[in-house]
Amino acid sequence: MLTFEDEPTQPGKPANPTNSASSLPKGLMQADKSRNKTEAFATRTVDTIDSSDGEQADAQPVAGSTQRRVSVEDKKIINCSADVNQLVPFKYKWAWDKYLAACANHWMPQEINMSRDIALWRDPNGLTEDERRIVKRNLGFFVTADSLAANNIVLGTYRHITNPECRQYLLRQAFEEAIHTHAYQYIVESLGLNEGEIFNAYHEIKSIRDKDEFLIPFIDTLTDPNFETGTLETDQQLLKSLIVFACIMEGMFFYVGFTQILALGRQNKMTGSAEQYQYILRDESMHCNFGIDVINQIKMENPSLWTKTFREEIVALMRKAVTLEYRYAEDTMPRGVLGMNAPMFKEYLRYIANRRCQQIGLDVLYPDANNPFPWMSEMIDLKKEKNFFETRVTEYQTGGALNWE
Ligand SMILES: [Fe+2]
Ligand SMILES: [Fe+2]
Repeated sequence: MLTFEDEPTQPGKPANPTNSASSLPKGLMQADKSRNKTEAFATRTVDTIDSSDGEQADAQPVAGSTQRRVSVEDKKIINCSADVNQLVPFKYKWAWDKYLAACANHWMPQEINMSRDIALWRDPNGLTEDERRIVKRNLGFFVTADSLAANNIVLGTYRHITNPECRQYLLRQAFEEAIHTHAYQYIVESLGLNEGEIFNAYHEIKSIRDKDEFLIPFIDTLTDPNFETGTLETDQQLLKSLIVFACIMEGMFFYVGFTQILALGRQNKMTGSAEQYQYILRDESMHCNFGIDVINQIKMENPSLWTKTFREEIVALMRKAVTLEYRYAEDTMPRGVLGMNAPMFKEYLRYIANRRCQQIGLDVLYPDANNPFPWMSEMIDLKKEKNFFETRVTEYQTGGALNWE
């Protein structure tokens, strides 16, 4: 039974070990600094006319070019020297499919009606103090978290993933992170919250700061301009950062917050905000699944990276992440609220950690953990047409604008 994610991961076939990279000129061998230069060079010199077109079948590389056409066997997720400007032929169809699905899920924050949230927030009796705390703490974490995510993709991950169909998805993902930051800002603005307080929460609220401080070294690794993959050590560093980003940041650190706001929505409170979060959750679920597919593909193509020591390190990070996210749950919910309390989240986070471990091929960490919020699975599995929060969305996937009844 599908109980958590919206789809199983689909690691592709192992790479062809007889990759032809060595036959390419040295200037095209993967290396971060040289790659930018050589990519531009490749655009200039490679003849990309498809030989299947009869009229162009005799097209020849321009004089002096040592380039040849990319074949599927040339492609690898990391450390690949094939021309990254040539999207096709596809090797990782799952990446392209996710890119198409993400585009079909396009949405914008201002399309969601926030008037009921504004009225409720302004009503002195509209929400309890504990409910207001949840909303403010939530936004305090998320208004900066998605900027961290976007920076990690644009300034880090993108450079080190040497496959064009995966890069195509990353470009879409980066835009979605911008939409998420926009959505959180839009809620802050709609409710008239103190922007300085909310946007500085990651400096000023310990439970939020601790989560970000856990993440930042892994982001710094990828965004360091001197960091290059290509050795066992640096490839493991990259893989570790990818796991932290997909399985812990997007796959664990968002879930207390998502659950809390969606619980408010289920009680017919802050329904506009809840709907924004619902769209974000759908996006994040796909980000997480894409990241896991990338991780599993890298593992298949580079089995030497998956050492016992490495696996133990990942397990330790997962356990630490459960602790940090649980502290955040305690801080945001000092008392029971909305039919939930912090201890229920300890169980939930253990359940999620188990799921993440299984998805990347590790044993479960907490064998007895169950899901105390089965309705969250329903939210994550949500396809179009459903309307939990009475905001009258009748067509979920439009690729453009949402339709209102
Ligand atoms: Fe996001
Ligand atoms: Fe994300």
